[in-house]
Amino acid sequence: TKTYRIAVIPGDGIGKEVVPEGVRVLEAAARVYGIGVDFEHFDFASAEYYQAHGQMLPDDWFETLKGFDAIYFGAVGWPDVVPDHVSLWGSLLQFRRHFDQYVNLRPVRLLPGIVSPLAGRAPGDVDFYVVRENTEGEYSSIGGKMFEGTDREVVVQETVMTRQGVDRILDYAFRLAQSRPKKHLTSATKSNGISITMPYWDERVEARAEQYPGIRVDKFHIDILAANFVLHPDWFDVVVASNLFGDILSDLGPACTGTIGVAPSANINPEGTFPSLFEPVHGSAPDIAGKGLANPIGQIWCASMMFDHFGEKEAGAGVLRAIEETLAAGEHLTRDLGGTAGTAELGAAIAERVLGQGG
Ligand code: NAD
Ligand code: IPM
Ligand code: MN
Repeated sequence: TKTYRIAVIPGDGIGKEVVPEGVRVLEAAARVYGIGVDFEHFDFASAEYYQAHGQMLPDDWFETLKGFDAIYFGAVGWPDVVPDHVSLWGSLLQFRRHFDQYVNLRPVRLLPGIVSPLAGRAPGDVDFYVVRENTEGEYSSIGGKMFEGTDREVVVQETVMTRQGVDRILDYAFRLAQSRPKKHLTSATKSNGISITMPYWDERVEARAEQYPGIRVDKFHIDILAANFVLHPDWFDVVVASNLFGDILSDLGPACTGTIGVAPSANINPEGTFPSLFEPVHGSAPDIAGKGLANPIGQIWCASMMFDHFGEKEAGAGVLRAIEETLAAGEHLTRDLGGTAGTAELGAAIAERVLGQGG
């Protein structure tokens, strides 16, 4: 059996609470499905590490992490100690860029047993992917300040889109759409107002679409697209978006499925040159951190996505099935799901179901 080397980075806040539950389920699935997993834990990318070292990561982080098969990540951010742009640009955003994880794949699925805040919606009505560009776009460090501290202050931050960067995320999204029954791609744009980069994005969508004649393509401006997530979630199959638009849509989508606490994401380097990184969509949730209240399902679903990424499809499906069965049974649920259980109780219940798959 192959042994996968996994770097575990809990980060801050509820990252420290949900990651152990994810590891528990990973270990259970590895046992049941005969997969080797070898974990190495790291305390960097956290406020404590920053307080001790004055930076978020050790200087040799790239060398340290690059040989792993995957990074299993919690959440970063503790604004009382370190400003968010410092902690995030000092850790997660470096991982995404240096490991060229240009795909941020974020499933949006209404799971059984969860009541959607959208009236009358059942599982099946909300089942799509947000494919978020993850290395360029609006998240750029190009820009600056002038006349700082005066009333003539100016701040500028540029959006960067490259031909290669746009085409490769579009190609990933088109291929994902090809693999799905509906064969439908929706592009998020704002080419009416953002008059240089967004028309370019649209132009590349049209150009790449020629290579995928079986795919139905449509586009919406981001404002009405957000509205349609709420009004018509059943219209969507694969939604491709720039970095910032994808960020916003991937909190809105999961909110439509009941709670952002269940939403996973895969930061993928499709070529496999570098490790991919698996983390929930949510952040460190300082408002509930340290209380054992966090929903671990987003983190646990990430374990399923990681197994899928490894090609261990049975294990990936097994973890997702365990999540769905636990939710459908309606027990051991955390507060955001209307229950009273804590993080560890829900994690243990899911791990138990995974072990049960071993017969
Ligand atoms: P957040 O996702 O941490 O929390 C938003 C709200 O959702 C909070 O009320 C929180 O209690 C709730 N919530 C989040 N995850 C939950 C879970 N698993 N179970 C139950 N409730 C949950 O977003 P925020 O408050 O905007 O950000 C807090 C910090 O996290 C900031 O420092 C931010 O920069 C950081 N952040 C990090 C990541 C990441 O590491 N990928 C993502 C988003 C935010
Ligand atoms: C996410 C987060 C990050 C992002 C933040 C914390 C920088 O919101 O992963 O969705 O905007 O990419
Ligand atoms: Mn986000």
